[in-house]
Amino acid sequence: MLMVTGGAGFIGSNFVLSFLAERDEEILNVDKLSYAGNLCNLKLVENDERHIFYQGDIGNRFLIGRLLEEYSPRAIVHFAAETHVDRSIHDPEPFFRSNVHGTMCLLAETLAYWNQLSKTDKEHFRFLHVSTDEVYGSLGPNDLPFSEESQYAPNSPYSASKAASDHLVRAYHRTYGLPIIITHCSNNYGPYQLPEKFIPLIISNVLEQKVIPVYGDGRHERNWIHVSDHCEALRVVLERGNVGETYNIGAARSKTNMEVVTTVCSVLDSIKPSENFESYTSLITHVEDRLGHDFRYDINSSKIEEQLGWRPKETFMEGIYKTVAWYFDNEEWLKQVSNKEHKKWLKMHYGNLSKDEDIR
Ligand code: NAD
Ligand code: TYD
Repeated sequence: MLMVTGGAGFIGSNFVLSFLAERDEEILNVDKLSYAGNLCNLKLVENDERHIFYQGDIGNRFLIGRLLEEYSPRAIVHFAAETHVDRSIHDPEPFFRSNVHGTMCLLAETLAYWNQLSKTDKEHFRFLHVSTDEVYGSLGPNDLPFSEESQYAPNSPYSASKAASDHLVRAYHRTYGLPIIITHCSNNYGPYQLPEKFIPLIISNVLEQKVIPVYGDGRHERNWIHVSDHCEALRVVLERGNVGETYNIGAARSKTNMEVVTTVCSVLDSIKPSENFESYTSLITHVEDRLGHDFRYDINSSKIEEQLGWRPKETFMEGIYKTVAWYFDNEEWLKQVSNKEHKKWLKMHYGNLSKDEDIR
C-alpha cells in the first residue's frame, strides 16, 4: 500500500487516478480538504475499493501515527501543502503551518513507524517529498536552467516554506537514515487545477467573458509541464530513484506569460470562437505586478532523463489543447470549485477586476 498526502488537490488527485489506473495497489489518501482539496477530483475512484480516503491534517501526529500503524504503507508520497504564491503573499502563516510544521510532524511519525519495520521493509521503504523548482529562486535572462546543484534562494513565503520542508526532509535522511527522495518540479497544468492558478484562470475567465489579468509586462517566464508527465516522473522516481537523491522534473523550455496567454487564447479561439471579438486576446489586461515576482524559472531535467529514463511526453500545444478540452467537458466541476471561497479570493486579490471590469 502507498500513503499519499494531499491526494484531493490538483497534482495529488491526478497522481491517485493515474496510479490506480496503472497499478494494482491500494492507496491511503490523507487530505485535510482545505479550500484546495476537493473530493470531486476523485469521483472516478469513489467506488474503487483500493482507494481509502481519510480526511485529516498531516500536522495531527496522533492521527498520522495511528494511520501508519493501521495501514503499514510501503511508501509515502507527500503532496500536502499550501501552494498558491499570491495567497502566501497575503497571509504566509498557513504556509508555515502546513508546509513546515505539517511536514515536520509527518516526518517524526514516519520515522517512528519506519524504525519498527523489519530490516527488509526498512530497506524498501521510501518517503517521496514532492517539491518545487521555486526553492531555487529567480533566474536572470541568460542564466542556465536550475540543476540539482543550484543553490536554494527562495523569494516568496510559499517557496521559503517549501525550501524549509526540503531541508527537514534532507535532515531526516542525514541524521536518522530515513530513506527519502526529493523531487523539484516546474509549473504544472492540466485537469483539476483550481482557477486561481494562471492557466485555468485564463480558461475560466474566458468562459465567463471576464478580463484576463497579466501581472506587470508579462515577460516573466515559467517552465510548464503537463501534470500527467509529472505524475509519471513521480512513479518512476518511486520505483527506481536512489535514496537521498534529488531529481529535477520539467518540460522542454520555458515560456513568457504573454506566450502562454496567447497560446491558450488561440486554442480557445479555435474551439469556441467569440461572438464579440476576433480573439480572446482582447481580454488580456495588464495589472499591477506581484510583489517580489520571480522573473524566470527554467529547469534542467537531464539527471532524471539520463539516470532513470523518464522524459516528458506532452508538447505544450497538445497539453493546452487537452487541458482546454477538459475544462470545456467539465464545466460542472468548474462551477463547483468556483464557490464562495474562490469568489472571495478573487475579489480580495483582484479587487474591481473581478466585478466592475467584468465585460459581460
Ligand atoms: P493543491 O493546492 O492543489 O493541493 C494541495 C492539497 O493538500 C489539497 O488537497 C489540500 O487540502 C491538502 N493539504 C494542504 N494542507 C494540508 C494539511 N496540513 N494536511 C493535509 N492535507 C493538506 O496543490 P498542488 O498544485 O496539487 O501541489 C501539490 C504538491 O506539489 C505541493 O507540495 C506543491 O508544493 C508541489 N508542486 C506543485 C507544483 C504546481 O505547479 N502546482 C509544481 C511543483 C511542485
Ligand atoms: P501561478 O500559476 O500562480 O504559478 P507560480 O506563481 O507558482 O509560478 O503563476 C504563473 C505565472 O503567471 C506567474 O509568473 C504569475 C503569472 N500570473 C499572472 O500574470 N496573472 C495571474 O492572475 C496569475 C494567477 C498569475
